[in-house]
Amino acid sequence: MKIPKKIESQAAKLRHTINEHNYYYYVVDDPRVPDSEYDLLLRELQDLEAKYPDLVTADSPSQRVGAPPLDAFAKIVHSVPMLSLNNAFNYQEAEDFAKDFANTEFFAELKFDGLAVSLRYEDGLLVSAATRGDGYSGEDVTANAKTIKTIPLKLRGENYPSVLEVRGEVFMPKAYFNKLNQKQAAKGEKIFANPRNAAAGSLRQLKSRVTAQRPLSFFSYAVGVVEGVELPQRHNDILKLLQQWGLPISQDSQLLTGIAGCLKYYESVLKQRQDLAFDIDGVVYKVNDLALQKELGYVSRAPRWAIAHKFPAQEAITQINDIDIQVGRTGALTPVARLNPVEVAGVTVTNATLHNQDEMKRKDVRIGDTVVISRAGDVIPAVMRVILEKRPKKTQEFIFPKQCPVCGSDVIRVAGEAVARCSGGFFCAAQRKQALKHFASRRAMDIDGLGDKLVEQLIDRDLVIKLVDLYRLTVEQLTSLERMGKKSAQNIIAALEKSKSTTLARFIYAIGIREVGESTANTLAQHFTIEALMAATKQELQNIPDIGPIVAQHIVKFFQQSDNINSIEELQTIGINWPKNSNTIINKSLAEEVFVLTGTLSQMTRTEAKTQLENLGAKVTNSVSKKTTCLVAGEKAGSKLTKAQTLGIKIINEADLINLLKSYE
Ligand code: IVH
Repeated sequence: MKIPKKIESQAAKLRHTINEHNYYYYVVDDPRVPDSEYDLLLRELQDLEAKYPDLVTADSPSQRVGAPPLDAFAKIVHSVPMLSLNNAFNYQEAEDFAKDFANTEFFAELKFDGLAVSLRYEDGLLVSAATRGDGYSGEDVTANAKTIKTIPLKLRGENYPSVLEVRGEVFMPKAYFNKLNQKQAAKGEKIFANPRNAAAGSLRQLKSRVTAQRPLSFFSYAVGVVEGVELPQRHNDILKLLQQWGLPISQDSQLLTGIAGCLKYYESVLKQRQDLAFDIDGVVYKVNDLALQKELGYVSRAPRWAIAHKFPAQEAITQINDIDIQVGRTGALTPVARLNPVEVAGVTVTNATLHNQDEMKRKDVRIGDTVVISRAGDVIPAVMRVILEKRPKKTQEFIFPKQCPVCGSDVIRVAGEAVARCSGGFFCAAQRKQALKHFASRRAMDIDGLGDKLVEQLIDRDLVIKLVDLYRLTVEQLTSLERMGKKSAQNIIAALEKSKSTTLARFIYAIGIREVGESTANTLAQHFTIEALMAATKQELQNIPDIGPIVAQHIVKFFQQSDNINSIEELQTIGINWPKNSNTIINKSLAEEVFVLTGTLSQMTRTEAKTQLENLGAKVTNSVSKKTTCLVAGEKAGSKLTKAQTLGIKIINEADLINLLKSYE
């Protein structure tokens, strides 16, 4: 079909605009349009391309969804080899490296724990992407790399080289890694050992549609072949240029002098390691001056001008003393290995998850085995594999129970699911304990002082059978418990009383419907009253954005159980209440909250918002980390929003913020 000129230029304009928005969103961290507007532009382009398939160009942002599957990867020969780095495993080795560089300027970078790729741009267009392979040739993963949103399909600006090879690392943020593994475990599919494996498995996929569903990211750290442009003579300036051409670079690098500066950098990064959104396995020091780099050259396959200063490994070897079953809030039975205590990256680990029955079988784990455990990706430590050579003669196989070890109810495993569950529901003390802990937690009903130890006693002594029993506790009953004075007991009664005034979103979150986390609870509270929610059909629920069939099914099932309906009614009767228009989870005290403000606010300036929040006792910081408890996302919020989503942090908009502030007036 002949494409009208007007349509052609309309598509070109759309491609350009969308690519520009991608750059501001992913690379410079300063989005120019709200997401909704971006989506409209992309939709417009997709519609045009659907009508005129010849319009589709290699750099069209619509091409990020994935190409047809391949039978095998083609090979790509690297025109400049992709070398590796020498490692320093301790301070001494780092100092040895730097002893000849007294006042040398270094550029210190994070050592990303993903996989190295080389991207080749010709006349500004991404023409190929290759894995490192053996350093001389790698696999052609072009279709897959195109699905990674932070990799530009087209370079920005005009002054880019005619040929540019960019080297960098593809990685998977920790939060996505954890979610991916949870999904894999539930489906009974392969569990990834760490984010690096997950990234490699996702990029080296013959089906790029699978890659497209795996949230990978990319940082550039070097160049290969460059033609047509004279590059600056300092490494950090080259990276700056890459950023201008649209390539993402890490903001955590630092220009510094001599080994003392390097070691300080090492220490400060090591402290932040757990708070980073992605895994790193060390830092890299690079001589910044290219002339000096050239002079120093290479020895075997690594440069003399750089070194990787490695962090402690996130894996360790230890023995399994026993295997227990833990029963979770929703009855899920998780096998847990009790270990000979072992230190992993600065933390003593005594327990590690074995995920589920199938995983345990697949790994052939037995009591008495020597195993590799890992806390990569910040997850609960997990057993990775058995070291069979070290298996003692007498190992004990673990028999997965048919009855719940806590309440004796039958264990049920639904066909197609990997998780075995106790069928006891609230009858099961383990489930009751977890449900009660969740109900009382800070982000749910926020019952001050009702900690895990107390919950356990309340359940063990049958003082609380149903949720409502909590609100019937007396000072006398509480003082009969271990380590509970009269004053503490009175405080708990007061905290229970105080918790009765809440928000609908908190309440929905607190009652513990499967798969309904804070953000889903928020969404539900915005669309339903509690009565309407209890009566909602699966279809009505699915009509709400972000509610998929599985969550909808769990909600319907929850309210089909008369015990749950009764429990909610009893809680309301005893006085739990929320303002009619309260639809976000808000804290009654902001003292423990850590806010980050991002994007543009229209009703107030960010400084005003900051002052008001601080006046209420909250902390307001600039960057999103695991410590952040709430992100206020104004218009055009960008990478901070993405990061908060990645970390599963509560996100509110300006209207929510105003409501929150008003509730304190
Ligand atoms: S520079 C000639 N910088 O580490 C040196 N590498 O052992 C080229 N890596 O395969 C590499 N972060 O996958 C460099 N900031 C960084 C890095 C980095 C991670 C990886 C890369 C490479 C390996 C080298």
